[in-house]
Formats: sequence, structure tokens, C-alpha cells
Amino acid sequence: MPDSIAPEMTDTDLFQPTQLGPYRLTNRIVMAPLTRSRAQKDDIPSNLAAEYYAQRASAGLIIAEATQISPQGKGYAYTPGIYTRAQVQAWQKVTAAVHAKGGRIFLQLWHVGRISHPSLQVNGALPVAPSAIRPEGQAFTEDGFQPFVTPRALEIEEIPGIVEQYRQAAQYALDADFDGVEIHAANGYLIDQFLRDKTNRRTDAYGGSIQNRTRLLLEVTEVVVAVWGADRVGVRIAPISPANDIADSDPATLFSYVVEALNRFGLAYLHVVEGATGGPREVEHGFDLQILRRLFKGIYMANNGYDLKLASEARKHNLADLIAFGKLYIANPDLVERLHTNAPLNPLDPATLYGGGAHGYVDYPSLEKAQRE
Ligand code: PHB
Repeated sequence: MPDSIAPEMTDTDLFQPTQLGPYRLTNRIVMAPLTRSRAQKDDIPSNLAAEYYAQRASAGLIIAEATQISPQGKGYAYTPGIYTRAQVQAWQKVTAAVHAKGGRIFLQLWHVGRISHPSLQVNGALPVAPSAIRPEGQAFTEDGFQPFVTPRALEIEEIPGIVEQYRQAAQYALDADFDGVEIHAANGYLIDQFLRDKTNRRTDAYGGSIQNRTRLLLEVTEVVVAVWGADRVGVRIAPISPANDIADSDPATLFSYVVEALNRFGLAYLHVVEGATGGPREVEHGFDLQILRRLFKGIYMANNGYDLKLASEARKHNLADLIAFGKLYIANPDLVERLHTNAPLNPLDPATLYGGGAHGYVDYPSLEKAQRE
């Protein structure tokens, strides 16, 4: 035990059980979805993924890494999928390992849209997007970083097929014994590309007005909820994040509409990346995201740059219901126990974040292990 106990831990309810949909979570701490790029051939999750997630099962909830819903939805080398039976079987090992340790795990459903590269697509196809606008930046391919290309704008006739990809993936996630799913509508990927006006220049029913730009998200939510029931579905948004070269001329109005439109479903939670994804919490042209916390009728999960102090303060002032931790979870499998006892945290090794094998994935020590050795 540490010599001194943090004042935060004595008066916080972060470590108390709480309800999420049908689930009694053991605490309010969530493992954020984290891309680790260790999947095997055919987008099958890593054979170390069960161990990796089971090590982190004391989180109140784990949200597994962003997982492509189709070959077309893939945008990075070595990310896993949820569109084949073989992938479902591999994910079953992950969910069983987490459940055996008393944990809960959701899967994040991902279509990257334009944040891809022909070398990651079937037959070198162009990535798809709401509009043919090339993102600034580079794609992480099997041959290293390569500049993004101009994507192909989806025909309106293709959109039901995209929605069907989400429905099928949601069904596969159910077959893989996940506890729920999170629709990834953040960080400049396909759904976010439809939401925001820097990337959506369509003139049909999916572009122009805020209502039209929100249409794809709502259609996707509808079919995913039909598979899972609303109380086991979350949605993740990043309203002011510039991640993946995205922006909107009026994010406060757009995302207020989004949240009010989502209210009708009665979702398990709304997951909000506060600020720039993985970066500063305050951004230029931002707005007070507490507007969304107040508008949303349900559990609000906050993410981005939280530590014990900020998380305790957020709970104290009721700014969030659940707090998701990303980078801290990579390096600290027993993050809940460490925060609870104010123990030191393992530092993150940036070199092993993406790709590779066990090192930097399943070999970060727990407190117990560090003390034994
Ligand atoms: C990443 O690989 O850096 C990444 C993936 C998914 C996200 C954000 C970042 O939503």
C-alpha cells in the first residue's frame, strides 16, 4: 500500500458499482477502445487478445478496439474484423476470457470511410466516403505510411448496403457473446464524415441539412438496436476533435441535434471524446460539451486525458457517469486497483502501441506481479 491515500479516493464513487442497461458494472471505470494493430491474417483478432482483455477485466466495462464491419470498412494494417465466422470464433475466446474474470465487454463497430488506402481494400478499390474529398495525412498500410487518396463518393443506392454491413456485424458481435456494441461515430471515420460539413458535400437526402447529415447515423442505430436492444448499444462521438482532418462549421448545433435525435432510442450510453482525440481537451472553435451531457437522456461516458483527479472531479460535479481511460489502460492492466490505492502507474511505451506481438501488449505488469518479481 502507498504511504498516503489520495484525498480523491476517499470521497469518490468511481469505485462503486453502477448500472448500465441490464448490467451491474463493478465500478465506473471504462477501458476505452484502443487500436493495437495485432490482428492475424484475414482480420482475425490476435491470439493474444483474450489474455490482453482478460488482464483488464476489472474495468467496470471494456470497449474492445475499433473493429471493421466489412473488408471495405478497414483503414489500418492488422486491425480485426467482425464480418466472418472465423472472426466470430476468435472473438468468442476473448469474450469468454473476460466473462470468466467477471468483466463486461462491448465491441466497437467501425467503418473508416475515406481513412483507408487502396492497398487495404479488396482488389485495390478506392475507399468510400460521403464526398470525393481527399483527407490530409497518411494511411498506416502493410507497407508503412502512404498518403491518403481521393475517395469515391458513395452512390445513394449503396447506402442501404452500408447500413446492412452494420446490421450484419452487430449480429456477429451478438454471436460472439459480447455484452453490447458501440457504434463508432467519432474521429473522422465514415459516420462522422457524413455528420460534418467539411467532409459531407452531398446534395441528396444524406447531405446538406443537419437532419440529412445525421440520417446515416440514425439508420445505423436503428438496425443495430433492432439486433441488440437499445440498452446494450452505445454511440461514440467526438464533436470537436479534428482527428483525421475533419471539422464542422457549427459543431454545437450539429451535435445538439445528434444527441436529441439519439434520445428517442433509449441507448445504453453516449460516449464523448472531449477535445482532440488523444490530445488537448480544449480546442479552438470548441464548445462546452456539457451541453451534450445535459441534453442526453441516459448514461454519459466521458473520455480523453482523464486521470484520477479529473475523473473524481467529474464525478463530484456530476459532469459524467462513466469515465473511459485509454493510454493509461494500455500500460496498466490493473488500472482500477492502481487508481483505487493511488499506486504508481506503469509508463506507456509508444514504440509498442501498434503492431508487433506480446511485448507492450500482454507484458505490462500488474501491481501484484511487480511485487512478486
Ligand atoms: C488510431 O489507430 O490511432 C485510432 C483508431 C481509431 C480511433 C482513433 C484512433 O477512433
